[in-house]
Amino acid sequence: EQSLAALGKAAGRDVGFAIDPVRLGDQEYARIAATQYDLVAAENVMKWETTEPDDGRFEFGPGDDVVRYAEATDKKVYGHNLVWHEALPAWVKSLDEDALRTAMEDHVRTQAAHWRGRVIAWDVVNEAFDDDGSRRGDSVFQQVLGDGYVEDAFRTARAADPDVDLCYNDYNLEWIGPKSDAVYAMVADFRARGVPIDCVGFQGHLPVGGVPGDLVENLERFAALGVDVRITELDVRVPTPASDGDLRRQADDFGAVFSACLEVERCRGVTTWGITDRYSWVPSVFPDEGAPLIWDAAYRPKPAFDAVVEALGAG
Ligand code: G3I
Repeated sequence: EQSLAALGKAAGRDVGFAIDPVRLGDQEYARIAATQYDLVAAENVMKWETTEPDDGRFEFGPGDDVVRYAEATDKKVYGHNLVWHEALPAWVKSLDEDALRTAMEDHVRTQAAHWRGRVIAWDVVNEAFDDDGSRRGDSVFQQVLGDGYVEDAFRTARAADPDVDLCYNDYNLEWIGPKSDAVYAMVADFRARGVPIDCVGFQGHLPVGGVPGDLVENLERFAALGVDVRITELDVRVPTPASDGDLRRQADDFGAVFSACLEVERCRGVTTWGITDRYSWVPSVFPDEGAPLIWDAAYRPKPAFDAVVEALGAG
């Protein structure tokens, strides 16, 4: 059997997956995780609601499990995430300006310091923009602190871990348009003013047939700002039950995204948002869609597997 991780290594790219440590009890999940991937991102257990459920009370146990698993199986850890308007405990949402700024800085500092030296990168801020390029209005950080919270979070993370890569991560960023233009302008401004930022994550939650034709061009323009880029949360959802035709188109999409990453020198790798169609966030948010990953619900490799092998092999 081919190994995506081995092919990725030969091509100089990380092949990652979003891990739910509870699933390691599935023998097949554990086998595929061990042989096919060389990087993990915590799907949920490094989010604020898990790591600081009450003000100043930190719970790093589940995240530590992920880090220990990664170290035992020789995988990198990509940190997801420090500041996000979702997966946020209620106490954070009722703070006034000074208290929220203090809470955010404490959270970033404490979490980044806890895993210092053990994660290669952090999504410091996740999803700060709306699709029209404005700052998203449904974020408590945006509402209470204004635009400056993003910069504050990056500076605080840098002070807590001078060596880790600091990333901005978002969805619908894969093509050139109002949202990616706005993020591009922010990254350019940060680089010009010396605000520490090292990388941009393009999540890659795509509908089948949805790989944008300008993906490479878009990744390249960010890379030209002096940051690394990475596909951080790839999945390709199809109408369910999945037809053979859609699974073939999905395979083409997976191949196209991996190929794009190989084409861009500063693209560090691709992370898929899970392993198997058995466990995915997609059906809970898109009721008639799903089956977005590389292995099916019975852990059989789908056409996407061969397409990724081919894309990586070509590198
Ligand atoms: O663990 C609790 C369980 O104890 C409880 O009984 C149950 C009842 O709702 O909820 C469980 O928590 C859920 C958690 O997933 C673990 O399954 C949360 O409700 C649910 O909201 C959470 O969804 C996650 C979502 O982020 C929100 O944090 C998804 O698994 C996860 O795949 C998704 O990932 C996000 C990325 O972080 C950022 N980009 C988009 C991506 C997809 O939405």
